[in-house]
Amino acid sequence: MRRFDFAVGRTNPETFPVDRVQRAAKTAIANEYAELTEYPGKLGHPGLRAVMARRESQREGVEVDPDALALMNGSMQAVTLTAEALTRPGDTVICEEVTYSGTIGAYRTLGIDMVGVGVDEDGMRVELLEETLDGLGEARKPKFIYALTTYQNPTGTNLSLERRHRLIDIARARDIPIIEDNCYGDVHYDGDKPPALYGLTDYENIIYMCSLSKILAPGMRLGYLYAKPRLLETILARRHDAGGNYLAAAVVAELYRDGVWSLTEELNESLKVKKNLVVDGLADAAGDICASSNPSGGLFVWVRFPDDVDQAKLARLSAERGFFYASGANFHIDGEQVPYLRLAFGHVPDDDIRDGMPILAQCLREARTSNEAPAFTGLFD
Ligand SMILES: Cc1ncc(COP(=O)(O)O)c(C=O)c1O
Repeated sequence: MRRFDFAVGRTNPETFPVDRVQRAAKTAIANEYAELTEYPGKLGHPGLRAVMARRESQREGVEVDPDALALMNGSMQAVTLTAEALTRPGDTVICEEVTYSGTIGAYRTLGIDMVGVGVDEDGMRVELLEETLDGLGEARKPKFIYALTTYQNPTGTNLSLERRHRLIDIARARDIPIIEDNCYGDVHYDGDKPPALYGLTDYENIIYMCSLSKILAPGMRLGYLYAKPRLLETILARRHDAGGNYLAAAVVAELYRDGVWSLTEELNESLKVKKNLVVDGLADAAGDICASSNPSGGLFVWVRFPDDVDQAKLARLSAERGFFYASGANFHIDGEQVPYLRLAFGHVPDDDIRDGMPILAQCLREARTSNEAPAFTGLFD
């Protein structure tokens, strides 16, 4: 059966730069075989750290010290290590109410109590944050705020500039660290790139993480953590793996020797086509019953469907027709069955997107228990 697999966020195999990676690998091995016989240490490959510091610095317009940046086995290692370093079981943290399912899983395993703040078109509703913090009181003061500020997973929203400043002000006033997970930072389609929090402030307690999974390939398992010395040391004190994969880092440093932008922008073009196919295809096939995001970056479209959709039936019908998506409940910090689903389009062939959207639309219609017009006008109202 033909498969329409929109479940997992991955990059596009059709545009993976095979020749360029092969050439980079050959050069990196010839130049660095001696270093490969050593353990990489807690920060990791200096060349890749320099390239990533340049990537950050050029994007954000501030100086980024490569020695304040530690390479990780994907940004997921940064998510996990930071939580291990800063929390104990039973501690509270703040997140967006819908957030990355991998982080939810890691925090649950660590026994962390997640308190959610709602999200709208402009990202986390920071105006609700103060109230939430007051409600928690000193006893449950959060150990940090975990924020997906840019191309939020799953909603695709960007935190507005005003909210970015307000978030920093609130966190600083209450001395709460912010974890800014910018996993999709350079998967950018339209408009200006939203600024990272660390470039907007001198607040010391921002822990920033980013990845190569989404601009190159998750199989590389390369991401990084960037923080001021005190927090960086605290987090790296938990690291006991003798460092990340030096070979992968050496190859990617060579690949990006002249910077990340030209290759990244080239790959983003094909992703933007896919994103538009999803958004337009869904509007054509299900615009009367669904609302969807039209993100300016990232790998996901967030889809709202009528409350009367029987979600178990939707999952069954779509699986029978080879269509797979990620259900909204996976991203809700309490696992609530919210009437949303997430479509990951990065790796899906264009034809599968074209043919897939009408299938999803038909499944949604068949899974409804009424014919009434949906009770919403937008993605978040
Ligand atoms: C928001 C967010 N953070 C972190 C990760 C982990 O990515 P990786 O470990 O591949 O860098 C993901 C992966 O989908 C993600 O969506």
